[in-house]
Amino acid sequence: MTKKWWHDSIVYQIYPKSFQDTNGDGVGDVNGIIDHLDYLKELGVNVIWICPIFKSPMVDHGYDISDYYEIDPSFGTMKDMDELIEEAKKRDIKILMDLVINHSSDKHIWFQKAMEDLNSKYADYYIIKEGKDGNPPNNWRSIFGGSAWERIGDTNKYYLHLFTKGQPDLNWENEELRNELYKMVNYWLEKGLGGFRVDAISHIKKNFDYVNLPADGPDGLVGAWEYYQNADGIGEFLNELKEKTFKIYDSMTVAEADKLEGEKLRRFIGEDGYFSTVFDFSHAPYRIREEKWKDNYIAMVDEIRDRIFEKQLSSIDCGFLSNFIENHDMPRSADRLIPQEDISFYSETMLATMYFFLRGIPFIYQGQEIGMRDFPKKSIKEFLDVPTYQIYDRMLKEGLTKEEALNKINIESREHSRTPFQWSTQKNAGFTAGTPWFDINPNYKEINVESQREDDASLLSYYKKLTLLRSHEEYKEVFVYGDFVPFYKDKDGIVAYERKDENKRVIVINNWTNKENILEFNDGLKKILLNNYNKIFIDNASIKLMPYQSVVLEIGVK
Ligand code: NOJ
Repeated sequence: MTKKWWHDSIVYQIYPKSFQDTNGDGVGDVNGIIDHLDYLKELGVNVIWICPIFKSPMVDHGYDISDYYEIDPSFGTMKDMDELIEEAKKRDIKILMDLVINHSSDKHIWFQKAMEDLNSKYADYYIIKEGKDGNPPNNWRSIFGGSAWERIGDTNKYYLHLFTKGQPDLNWENEELRNELYKMVNYWLEKGLGGFRVDAISHIKKNFDYVNLPADGPDGLVGAWEYYQNADGIGEFLNELKEKTFKIYDSMTVAEADKLEGEKLRRFIGEDGYFSTVFDFSHAPYRIREEKWKDNYIAMVDEIRDRIFEKQLSSIDCGFLSNFIENHDMPRSADRLIPQEDISFYSETMLATMYFFLRGIPFIYQGQEIGMRDFPKKSIKEFLDVPTYQIYDRMLKEGLTKEEALNKINIESREHSRTPFQWSTQKNAGFTAGTPWFDINPNYKEINVESQREDDASLLSYYKKLTLLRSHEEYKEVFVYGDFVPFYKDKDGIVAYERKDENKRVIVINNWTNKENILEFNDGLKKILLNNYNKIFIDNASIKLMPYQSVVLEIGVK
């Protein structure tokens, strides 16, 4: 394998609206990121991914871009952005921006011109089709709910939007459009970016081989995934994108693409793949508070473990996955994956240790490192996200009462992870001097950076230990390039694996249960590299783990 600069990345994801506001408008900004670069350096990350900060009407909080060449004024100016790249460089930190090129905003000039004149060349920059018998061209459901088609005025034509109607899908079949996009990507790479996280990229190819499919819900619509996710022919677009942009700049690219296995995965992240890496979403659908796991969450843990391990093993010969437990599209990890009564320093550090040493690139989502938590709402009106309302409406249509639907939204909502960052015990958690754009979780008095920064026993300090170990000169090689071997895989509630090469063997054992667990252990302990408890019980033949205990152990090379 050819070594690349990004192989030993530890990435920190910033949701800029909620990171740090410096001008009092209640919205986080680029200067707020600059202000905290030292914090991030201290945390031990070397790459930052910033969710979209381009000009946008913010229908989907920036994932609807109206000008790819401008920074949205709510986030600052191009000068601020240049300064951020420069300041990050001084600290050996690379910046990844979010590349949203499956769709634009409906306020983008291309879309505006397309709507003004459906015969103009811009109309072909989007996916516009004739309706059928007074209905949309087909019964695809948008990923955010409702029809994926929006009627254009009083014509019989409709445009496709796989996300909100403010996010019309771009027509990648149009070569001129593709070249416009490549030009824009290179404009940003020229500025010295490390690369991009590439949004919704598995949807750029659509297959229109049929009119309607059998509905899969009472709305008469269908989630037609096989027709718009990794559809046949997508590879040609992705390859061209890579050749004309990323490859020229030796960029790091992280694709948001799921359901890739075998040969497909290789084409995405193999030696000459379209991208550097893709996220492993194995654990993403799981919600411990769902009825089905109520009395048996260990079954959920085992399922997650098996899926993660399967992915790890299938990626070894291909390339690197990106490993994460939180992002801006899901609830906070502790609320999602640990029984409420068990959420503590131990279970939170266990989750962190569990994924941090997997083979691939570890990502930390803002606030995860201090244990920010979900903020359940008392009324549906307190949510802000368009998809939340679409999902809520669909639940009501499916027969849930308003109370049941709100409960479900409180378990599933991605908005939990978007509350403003909790820096201190001061007003508005130190996030803004103004009125925050989104309610701050009232637990900020207990959970904040200020109270954890100097405390060696805090979650934040534990995250620093994780990054330190992962990037330690002596162990870096084995953590980055070492093999991955499952350990104790038939032990319920235990997620354990070995990372090894010819010089080192390290095992990572995580007790994802609230019970003590005794495991056979006769591997010749060399060194305890990390332990979320102060104690460890090991004898010649066994190791005893306390509830939610995690240990990283160096053992003798055979
Ligand atoms: C995936 C992003 O992570 C999500 O936040 C966004 O809403 C959709 N793509 C649409 O761009």
